[in-house]
Amino acid sequence: MTGGTFETTSPALPPAFEFGVATSAYQIEGAWNTDGKGPSIWDTFSHTPGKVAGDIPGDVACDSYHHYPLDLAALRELGVDGYRMSLSWSRLLPEGAGALNPAGVSYYDRVIDGLLEAGIRPNITLYHWDLPQALEDRGGWPNRDVAEWFADYAAKAGELFGDRVTRWSTLNEPIALWVGYALGGFAPGRTDPRAARQAMHNAMLAHGSGSEIGIVLDVWKRQPYSDSSADVALAQRGEDDGHRFFLDTLLGGGYSARLETRLHADGTFPEVHDDDLATIAAPIDYLGLNVYSRVVVNSKTQDPNTWAPSDPHPGGNFLDNGAEYYPRAVYEALEMVRDDYGWIGPVFITENGMPDGPHADPEHDEERIRYVRGFLEWIARAAAEGADVRGYYLWSLLDNYEWSAAFTQRFGLYRIDPETFARVPKDSARWYRDVIARHRAAR
Ligand code: BGC
Repeated sequence: MTGGTFETTSPALPPAFEFGVATSAYQIEGAWNTDGKGPSIWDTFSHTPGKVAGDIPGDVACDSYHHYPLDLAALRELGVDGYRMSLSWSRLLPEGAGALNPAGVSYYDRVIDGLLEAGIRPNITLYHWDLPQALEDRGGWPNRDVAEWFADYAAKAGELFGDRVTRWSTLNEPIALWVGYALGGFAPGRTDPRAARQAMHNAMLAHGSGSEIGIVLDVWKRQPYSDSSADVALAQRGEDDGHRFFLDTLLGGGYSARLETRLHADGTFPEVHDDDLATIAAPIDYLGLNVYSRVVVNSKTQDPNTWAPSDPHPGGNFLDNGAEYYPRAVYEALEMVRDDYGWIGPVFITENGMPDGPHADPEHDEERIRYVRGFLEWIARAAAEGADVRGYYLWSLLDNYEWSAAFTQRFGLYRIDPETFARVPKDSARWYRDVIARHRAAR
């Protein structure tokens, strides 16, 4: 990678601040049925006609299963402190429970060892949306037994890799369960809101039942479009559904009265057993927050059930991809967990990034640089004001498989050469490398 030409920002981040990049198993690994891997709900879903863009499944994705040395080389080139990745549950346990798949274990051993040799800290997510299909066939996340299945899987992962991996997170964005079980937009493609809320509750129960140390939630703060009571109420509802459902039980002592009343009224309040709330509230060592932007809520144009972003609003500052550029979102998310939930412990920004827009140059991605710089500046400001924010993981290392959008959204610092699978740096990769190097030099 030859020198970057962009001016780099050196926000006043704490000296020990960690820079990293993030990916997830299904989005990069490919090899969906290789060497004994069992199918996951995403394999089934993406093979179902009409579910993902262009009907292209993630069978190959970035083929990291075969090309992980290229990923490791890119990570070294960037000089990141940490790499956030997830394990494919069904690569390790093809049936979801029971016998381990030795080839899967060996794959993750090689990746983890390669990271450690490069001085890069593995930061491992146990669940990034790819439930083993065998467990979906037994009822999936809405089945309370999932807490036990997950605890067994977590314990096995800990036994296998815990000697080398010191930072774990249990779940990535459990709100994806709503999309998968109520809206049908993600795997497993069910449309049962009651089952979905139970799945979300069970997922938090699974989180609390493991011996793990962090959890990753996504925060899309709602901004009412006007001060009309309809906009304000819809904004509250969006936050309740989107992140407060999880934060209320994790850090707030239980579901809020407002949430409980509404979910009872619409018949989706989950079955909660006596000890559930105590289990879910088991102490965590850090909170992971994924922050991309905010949602401006306009009750006249927005569907409260899908929270599709409302129409472009006046004063908006839009990226080429159509999303609002609102880097202050990260500052507001940090403020919210402190002020509303009293969380003053460590926070990692575990994801932040943007997909290229339709006019983007595949390699000269100035907009991504501006976007990331803006978020880093707001993180630095929060840190200067006392937030214990310890790291930033850019989404994503690679142009990878973007779920239902398949390959139509590209978030990477590196694009993938379709013939050779070479990881080709974009300008943002060079810029990020320089930001990291400067920060390291200033330590
Ligand atoms: C998810 C990633 C996804 C990214 C971009 C996050 O919500 O954790 O898997 O690719 O957003 O949409």
